[in-house]
Amino acid sequence: MKLTIIGTGYVGLVTGTCFAEVGHHVICVDNDAAKVKVLQAGGIPIYEPGLEELVKKNVAAGRLRFTASTADGVQNSDVVFIAVPTPPQSDGSVDLSYIEKVAREIAAAMTSYKIVVDKSTVPVKTGEKVTETIKRYCAAKVEFDVISNPEFLREGFAVGDLMKPDRVVIGVGSQRPVAAMQEIYTPFNAPIIITDINSAELIKHAANSFLALKISYINAIATICEAAGANVQEVAQGIGLDERIGRRFLNAGLGFGGSCFPKDLSAFIKISEQVGYDFKLLKEVQRINADQMERFVKKITDTLWVLKDKTLGVLGLAFKQNTDDVRSSPAIDLCHRLLKDGATLRVHDPKAMEKARAILPGVTYVDDMNAVAEGCDALVIATEWDEFKQLDLARAKKGLTHPILFDGRNLFDPAEMEKLDWIYKSVGR
Ligand code: UGA
Repeated sequence: MKLTIIGTGYVGLVTGTCFAEVGHHVICVDNDAAKVKVLQAGGIPIYEPGLEELVKKNVAAGRLRFTASTADGVQNSDVVFIAVPTPPQSDGSVDLSYIEKVAREIAAAMTSYKIVVDKSTVPVKTGEKVTETIKRYCAAKVEFDVISNPEFLREGFAVGDLMKPDRVVIGVGSQRPVAAMQEIYTPFNAPIIITDINSAELIKHAANSFLALKISYINAIATICEAAGANVQEVAQGIGLDERIGRRFLNAGLGFGGSCFPKDLSAFIKISEQVGYDFKLLKEVQRINADQMERFVKKITDTLWVLKDKTLGVLGLAFKQNTDDVRSSPAIDLCHRLLKDGATLRVHDPKAMEKARAILPGVTYVDDMNAVAEGCDALVIATEWDEFKQLDLARAKKGLTHPILFDGRNLFDPAEMEKLDWIYKSVGR
């Protein structure tokens, strides 16, 4: 099928590329001409494992191309996906101005029937607004259908999540677009759920909020484990093997961050308020998440006492492993907290140092993770990168004034660390 994706962020670029990979003809549109130039020249503006190879392969096969012109995309495709940002506003609600603008641009460019698919995460009832907007601004007065098709990919695993989705959700207002949507998704061999538009929009916020709730739940359990002398990883294993609960997203740590969970939780609380429901449960999820950071900082200050004039080595800046994304990163928040308390920081991240520089000045960026500990009073692990498990502990010990490790992501075994004579503090163990 001939598809256009408007917006080449994480969702748009990966979705477009995976659609091309299964044989569709895809045009990716972005209004940032500089970004389009980079993409046309074979550059990839984000780090996402496996993406670069797939983009190159599909561009070479003639199934994927990039343009800055919405009209080019709309007029040369049957289905137009909207994948533009929906950032938070100061009151927690969602800024829908990018969606509204793209809806107007699509409307202006339409000269024949189109299916317009919203892939961005939006509040329930946005589909109705997009429909109204297109009707109003479509001079050619052609027919169209607006549908909701939320995306469930995780950064860092986006290609895998897209190629092998757990499910595909398609929210429609009529039967007309269903066959085309099924044709688009059949190659992905996933269950396809057809719903009404409002339900599809709600599914996205309900899913992300539930996953955030799972993380806050295990973080609350971690607090109890610390007080009771239990081990949160063993508890997670013990409850997670119950298929009704599931082991995934039960990793205690510094709390969740990123461009989705914090924003989507706030948005869902606001949406619920607007329809007359006070979603106190989700407010508690937020509170536990904020508390988790406070408790970790307290662990550091309880051990090191005064942070002024102390040097700390921080491993991890990305909001999670396998990404260079530092938006709403708990690791960056932690660094800001430690700096505020007067500490000097030496930091390292396998992929996120370039992006971190803009928001975290006044620290020393160290290229080699094994060199971070040199001259430090303690080490801190802030992101769950697998490679940190290979840290040269003997070398780190030599570099530190005292062998102290605060592990915010539970990457090491407390018993092993004790044997190696480390003062080792992790979460919920
Ligand atoms: C999340 C969802 O997982 C995706 O399904 C969804 O499509 C996406 O948001 C979105 O709305 O676009 P993402 O933000 O990429 O994906 O990251 P996650 O892998 O969900 O991790 C979010 C945060 O939770 C990270 O800070 C991570 O460190 C933390 N986390 C995750 C934990 O603290 N413990 C866990 O057990 C799992």
